[in-house]
Amino acid sequence: MNLVLMGLPGAGKGTQAEKIVEKYGVPHISTGDMFRAAIKDETELGLKAKTFMDAGNLVPDEVTIGIVRERLSKDDCAKGFLLDGFPRTVAQADALENILSDLGRKIDYVINVEVPKEDLMERLTGRWVSPTSGASYHVIFNPPKVEGICDKDGSKLIQREDDKPETVAQRLEVNIKQTQPLIDFYTEKGYLKNVDGKQDINKVFEDIDQLLKGLR
Ligand code: AP5
Repeated sequence: MNLVLMGLPGAGKGTQAEKIVEKYGVPHISTGDMFRAAIKDETELGLKAKTFMDAGNLVPDEVTIGIVRERLSKDDCAKGFLLDGFPRTVAQADALENILSDLGRKIDYVINVEVPKEDLMERLTGRWVSPTSGASYHVIFNPPKVEGICDKDGSKLIQREDDKPETVAQRLEVNIKQTQPLIDFYTEKGYLKNVDGKQDINKVFEDIDQLLKGLR
C-alpha cells in the first residue's frame, strides 16, 4: 500500500492519516511532523525549517526531498507507506518518482482531500493538537472528551505556532499556488483519487476506506 495524502492546509490529512494507520498499519510519514520534531529537538534540520514554517512558507525542496528519501529507505516502509503533506511541489513529485523507482516501487493512489478554501481558516484556527501523541482535535468539529486534554495520552493540548490567522492566510496562499500543477501531474499519471473532505470526518474515512479495500 503505497499512498500519498494531499490536500490544502486543514483539509484533514492528519485526521484521516490517523484512521488509515489504525486500520491498515502503514507507517505515517508526515513531513510537517518530521520538521516539528526536528524543531523541538533543536537539530540543524529544525533550525533550517523553522524560519520557513513560522512564516507560512514551504521548506526548500532540496531539504524536504532529502528527509523523505532517507525515511522511505527505512525497513518499516518495505511493505508500504502513507505520505502526508509530501509532495507539495512538482519538483518534489518528480523526486518521489525517482526515489520510488530506485526502490523498485510505485505509488498506488494519491488521495486528494478536497475542501473549499473558505472552510480552512476556521478549521485551522480552531485546531488543538497533542504535542506527544500527535492527535489533532477541533474545538467544534472534533472536540476531545475532556476540554484541552488528549483522549489518547492525557497530554495538555496546544495550538500550533503556524495556526495563527496571519500565518494561516500565507500558508493557504502558498499551497493553493502549488496544488493545481500537482493535481495535473498526478491526473496524468492516473494515480489521483479525489475525496470530498467537506463531509463529516467518519464519512470522509469511509470513502477513503472504500478505495483502500480495492488494494488489499
Ligand atoms: P503540515 O504539518 O503538513 O501542515 P499542512 O499541510 O498545513 O496541513 P495541516 O497539518 O495544517 O492540516 P491537515 O490537512 O493535516 O488537517 P488536520 O487533519 O489537522 O506542514 C506544516 C509546514 O511544514 C508547512 O507549512 C511547510 O512550511 C512545512 N512542510 C511540510 N511539508 C512540506 C513539503 N512537502 N514541502 C515543503 N514544506 C513542507 O485538520 C485540521 C482541523 O480540521 C483539525 O482541527 C481537525 O480536527 C478538523 N477537521 C479535520 N477533518 C474535518 C472534517 N471532515 N470536518 C470538520 N473538521 C475537520
